[in-house]
Amino acid sequence: MSLTPKTPSESLTIHTDLVLPSETNHIHNLFGGELLARMDRAASIAGQRHSRCITVTASVNHVAFTKAISLGSVVTIEAKVSRAFKSSMEVYIDVWVEDRESGSKTKANEAIYTFVAVDENGKPVEVAPIIPETELEKQRYDAALRRKQLSLVLAGKMKPEEATELKALFV
Ligand SMILES: CC(C)(COP(=O)(O)OP(=O)(O)OC[C@H]1O[C@@H](n2cnc3c(N)ncnc32)[C@H](O)[C@@H]1OP(=O)(O)O)[C@@H](O)C(=O)NCCC(=O)NCCS
Repeated sequence: MSLTPKTPSESLTIHTDLVLPSETNHIHNLFGGELLARMDRAASIAGQRHSRCITVTASVNHVAFTKAISLGSVVTIEAKVSRAFKSSMEVYIDVWVEDRESGSKTKANEAIYTFVAVDENGKPVEVAPIIPETELEKQRYDAALRRKQLSLVLAGKMKPEEATELKALFV
């Protein structure tokens, strides 16, 4: 397997779908769990495109349900690997809702997931590094280590005193 660095756009995964009645809550907006599942699928494919391996969801680091998405909406999910570590990858997801008449897209939500590349036995395997290109990709790349440390501390997998990037925010 080649570990030649890749750009975030090489993993770009775009998923567009409608909101159907069975996917809504009592007030006819998209059910949160349905959106989480759609984002998980798109992010998983982005992780596979980057690593060319099986990927598993290790953590959902952040979700912001900023705007309700109504029944009948056309929802587009864009997922890209924002940073790769050893076997783990941060995937950044932007969710857009398209206006039926004008075609303009409004940002409705964003989320950050962590995926791990694994072999057939579920053992983590190394992935290629990321080289961010755009200004936004560079910002997301730079902040990813901080988010990884926060996620590991919250999961009880890292001691707070070892989280150097988090300490740097306060010291
Ligand atoms: C994710 C999983 C492969 C990690 O395995 P592990 O034995 O903990 O392996 P490691 O400790 O070596 O961690 C592997 C990588 O995941 C990262 N990781 C693990 N948990 C994490 C978390 N909560 N947040 C961020 N990163 C995490 C580690 O930092 C490490 O990253 P690195 O290799 O880039 O440095 C394992 O816990 C697993 O298979 N979980 C179930 C996944 C799954 O089924 N998901 C679907 C849910 S239904």
